[in-house]
Amino acid sequence: MANRSCLLYAFVLLVAFQSSMIMSNTVIHTPQCRPVAASSRDKILFSINLLIYKAEFFLRASVGVGINGISPGLVQGPVPIGGTLANITNSARRIIEELGLATVGHLRAIKQVLRSNLPLPGPQLDLSAQVFAGFVNLGFNVSTLSPPFNIYANTPSFVLAAEAISAFTVQYYAGIILRL
Ligand SMILES: *[C@@H]1O[C@H](CO)[C@@H](O)[C@H](O)[C@H]1NC(C)=O
Ligand SMILES: *[C@@H]1O[C@H](CO)[C@@H](O)[C@H](O)[C@H]1NC(C)=O
Repeated sequence: MANRSCLLYAFVLLVAFQSSMIMSNTVIHTPQCRPVAASSRDKILFSINLLIYKAEFFLRASVGVGINGISPGLVQGPVPIGGTLANITNSARRIIEELGLATVGHLRAIKQVLRSNLPLPGPQLDLSAQVFAGFVNLGFNVSTLSPPFNIYANTPSFVLAAEAISAFTVQYYAGIILRL
């Protein structure tokens, strides 16, 4: 996939996430997207899910291990499906691994603040290339790109999508922090 397409994808994703944060009171008229009333607890649980997602995605793509391979018993839930090592340069791999480890640190800190001896509950995650390809197809309004977008295929595709996921997590915190 051309770098230009990757950039466009990241841009589309960022704009989509950004506008959903800024206009969180706006009703979005599609069957799947609508505001949901959430308590502070719900919002924090959702943000924990995002961190679990980011850590699993970054660690499995860079070094092929999950959160419990790094910090046994930190999270509890089904093993993510579809995660795989990404075909990225060694320097990108080291940075992605480091970001994954930092996210595990954030999860540990949250667990400490919650004073919980129980593992943090995690949802079933699907990290497969097909799921990301589905987002990109939506962004371009096509049934499928040819060849299909593969997030794991090369450094530009992976890093731009990873950047979008990181940005989304930050945006989510910025959005909820005033309403907790
Ligand atoms: C997406 O594509 C369909 C069919 O190709 C078209 O009817 C529709 O208007 C497009 N949507 C947008 C937002 O461009
Ligand atoms: C891995 O990345 C390199 C460098 O971008 C590329 O030449 C190669 O075709 C990729 N391998 C696969 C299996 O995608």
